[in-house]
Amino acid sequence: MPSFHKVSEYMIKSTVFEKELMDLQKKYLLRNIVSRSSPQGPIITIKGKKYLNFSSNDYLGLASHPEILEKAGKALKKYASGSGASRLLGGGSDLHAKLEEQVADFKVTESALIFNSGYSANIGIIPAIASEGDVIFSDELNHASIIDGCRLSQARTVVFKHRDISHLKSLILKEKARRKIIITDTVFSMDGDIAPIGEIYKLCLSLNSSPLTPHPLLLYLDDAHGTGVLGKGRGALAHFGLKPEPWIIQMGTFSKALGSYGAFAAGSRDVISWIINNARSFIFSTALPASVIAASGASISIIKKNRSLIKKLWSNRDYLVNSIKSAGYDTLKSETPIIPLLIASAKEALTLSSYLYRKGIYVPAIRPPTVKEPRLRITVSAAHTKEQLDLLIKTLKRYCKERG
Ligand SMILES: Cc1ncc(COP(=O)(O)O)c(C=O)c1O
Repeated sequence: MPSFHKVSEYMIKSTVFEKELMDLQKKYLLRNIVSRSSPQGPIITIKGKKYLNFSSNDYLGLASHPEILEKAGKALKKYASGSGASRLLGGGSDLHAKLEEQVADFKVTESALIFNSGYSANIGIIPAIASEGDVIFSDELNHASIIDGCRLSQARTVVFKHRDISHLKSLILKEKARRKIIITDTVFSMDGDIAPIGEIYKLCLSLNSSPLTPHPLLLYLDDAHGTGVLGKGRGALAHFGLKPEPWIIQMGTFSKALGSYGAFAAGSRDVISWIINNARSFIFSTALPASVIAASGASISIIKKNRSLIKKLWSNRDYLVNSIKSAGYDTLKSETPIIPLLIASAKEALTLSSYLYRKGIYVPAIRPPTVKEPRLRITVSAAHTKEQLDLLIKTLKRYCKERG
C-alpha cells in the first residue's frame, strides 16, 4: 500500500495511544492526512506528483474561479487578515452583513446568519433551538455535526429510519414534548441520496395545522451538499418547489459547491434573532475574515447569473454514475454528485483506493466509524473533463478485470 495509508514509525512509538493506534491499523481503520501542494481542483499535487482528484466537494469548481479570487484578494487588502473578534464584539465587517442579505435573498428567507463552518453551525444552532423537554427526530444517516449538535442540546433525540416517512410520522405521534424538531441532511454526505423533503414538508404542514399543537413542529434542513447543487443552486427547498415557512430553518455551507469557507442559517427574522442570542458557537468564536466572506458573496453572484456550471455538473454526474454502474459497481441510491462505491471490507476499500492512487487517481476510502459499510466516496465536479471521467471509469474497470 502507498505510504499515505501507513502510520509513521514515529507516531506509533511515541504516543501514549500506541495500543489503540495499532488496533486501528490492524483493522485497516487508521486514518492519515494527505497534504496537497496545489490548489483544490480536478488535478492536485501530492508529494510533487499530479493526481486526478475525485475527493473534493467543490462541485462547481469555484474554488479557483478568477472572479472569486479577485474579490477575496481585494477584501484581504482592504480589511486585512484576521477579523479580530466575534461578530457580537465587533469582529464583523460590512461584507458580513451584505453576505447575510445575499443569502436571505438566495434562500428566499427574511434573514440569515453566517457561521464559521457547517460543523460550528450545527453544534450551535441545534442546541439553540432545542433543549431539555424537547424532542428531536433525526435521520439515522445524518451528518456527525448534527449528531453532536443533538447531544449538546440535551433534548431527547429519536432516530428515525433513513428516509422513512411512515417511521418518522409514527415516532412523532408517539412522543409527547414541549417542542418537536425534525432534522435531516438534504443530500446525505456519504450516500449521495436526497431526503424526501416534499413528504416531510407535507407531514409538518398537516401536523402544524392542528390547533392542539402548542408549538409548531420545526424542520431543520442541513443543505450543506444541496446548496449550489440542487434547485438551480438555491438548494433543496427550491429543488422540491417548496417555499420557506417560518417553521423551517435552513443551514447551508459556503465550503462545498460555493468553493469558499463557512456556513449560514437562513430563516425567519425571529428565529435568526434567537440564534444570534443563543448559539454558543456563534457568540463565542472569532468571526470569519472578510476575504473569505468576499469569496462566498462572489460565489453566490456567479451561481445566480451562470447556470452553465450547474448543468455541466449534472451532465458529468450522470455520465460518471451510469458508467460506473455498468462496470458492475454498487453505487447505493446515489442521486447527486456524491457517488459511493460500496466495497466488501475496510481492507478492500483501502486496496482499491491504493490501486487508484498508484494509477494517479485520488479517491478516498471511507470506513467505520464514519460509515457502517466501507466504501470509496467519489465526488464529481463541473470542472472535470470527459477524458478525466473516462480515465477513472477505465481504471475501475481494469481493477475489476485484474481482480477477477
Ligand atoms: C451534511 C453536512 N453537514 C455539515 C458539514 C460540516 O460542514 P463544514 O465542513 O463546513 O464544517 C458537512 C461536512 O462535510 C456535511 O457533509
